[in-house]
Amino acid sequence: MSSNQQALKAAQREPAEVVYSDELELLRGIDSGPVPPGWQMSPRAVEKFVMGDDKHGIERKFVADRAMVARIIISLCTSRGCLLVGEPGTAKSWLSELLSAAISGTSTLALQGGAVSDVSQLLYSWNESVLHTDGPCLKALVPSPLLRGMMEGRMVRFEEIARCPQALQDALLSVLSDRVVVIPELAGEDGVVLAREGFNVIATSNSIDEGVHRMSAALKRRMDFEEIRPIRNLSEEMGVVLREVNRANSRAGIKVELDESVVEILVTMFHELRNGQTLDGRSTDRLAGSALSTAEAVSVAHATSLNAWYYGGGSVTVEQLMHHIIGSALKDQPEDRRRLRHYFETTVAQRRGANWQQAWALRSLIH
Ligand SMILES: Nc1ncnc2c1ncn2[C@@H]1O[C@H](COP(=O)(O)OP(=O)(O)OP(=O)(O)O)[C@@H](O)[C@H]1O
Ligand SMILES: [Mg+2]
Repeated sequence: MSSNQQALKAAQREPAEVVYSDELELLRGIDSGPVPPGWQMSPRAVEKFVMGDDKHGIERKFVADRAMVARIIISLCTSRGCLLVGEPGTAKSWLSELLSAAISGTSTLALQGGAVSDVSQLLYSWNESVLHTDGPCLKALVPSPLLRGMMEGRMVRFEEIARCPQALQDALLSVLSDRVVVIPELAGEDGVVLAREGFNVIATSNSIDEGVHRMSAALKRRMDFEEIRPIRNLSEEMGVVLREVNRANSRAGIKVELDESVVEILVTMFHELRNGQTLDGRSTDRLAGSALSTAEAVSVAHATSLNAWYYGGGSVTVEQLMHHIIGSALKDQPEDRRRLRHYFETTVAQRRGANWQQAWALRSLIH
């Protein structure tokens, strides 16, 4: 392990290439498929890393249709970028992290659309003190993650690309189509950065908020779109939530008893309210102010675990859970209170089982 990787091990949240360094090494070792130029492993091995492989003990990290993931991987082999679009909390960022970790060995070359406001942040800036003594030269150049990805032949993640100003989206166009950045201050060959094999862009964008509407039409044409949908199957969603909560709890150094049947209440409520449909097919109101995503279910379960650990008796109760569910579901839309109440009256009231009945008994918390 390099010293850089050791430093990352102490970080609050390590990138996927550090967390799963053993899996990546194993996959590179057994990989017998053809490897695209500049990639660290074959598309098949990348897919195994993301979707899991029981035979080799590779964890399933992303729950989705395998064919869709294969399509995304193939689109990254082409010279078009790939844009993952979807509702909040559907693991777009997580998928882009996994893909760049597997393809390029690093997921940290990343830009945040909302934080990129001028071209120096998109492409390059200068180290003023070197510039002052040596003049414009490669040593004085401070490449952005995008330019580094081009120079090193790696995947670059562009988070929330639609939030980046239009003019900068247009600057990205020439990078994607011509694969070159010209630095007029540098003379000769140094002034022309050609993208090395292995470079490509994986972008993400929310389909709500301001979403893809703000994206330049020309940029949209340069990228393959893939819609990432919420997890459809309740038991698969339960699996993701339990795994992620246990991970978050152990990262936080707490050992809480997490009863699966209590977590099931949370995952079921979020699943039904998000889909606007109960498990038995009756329609119900969707909430307007909250996405109730899988990611939010994870953070509600984790917050409830912290509550149980610091204030409770060390095991998660339905009552603590209800407080956190309501806090997460009711944000700034007053009408959501009525919708949530309606969901309780029509759906929760009918449910059998001690946990559901306890949740129903606590309905006054919504008022
Ligand atoms: N299909 C899924 N497979 C695995 N994990 C999932 C899935 N959907 C959601 N998650 C969980 O949600 C977490 C958060 O996802 P992430 O932040 O990547 O979402 P996002 O789509 O980028 O959201 P946002 O639009 O808010 O940026 C993941 O780390 C994972 O725990
Ligand atoms: Mg994201």
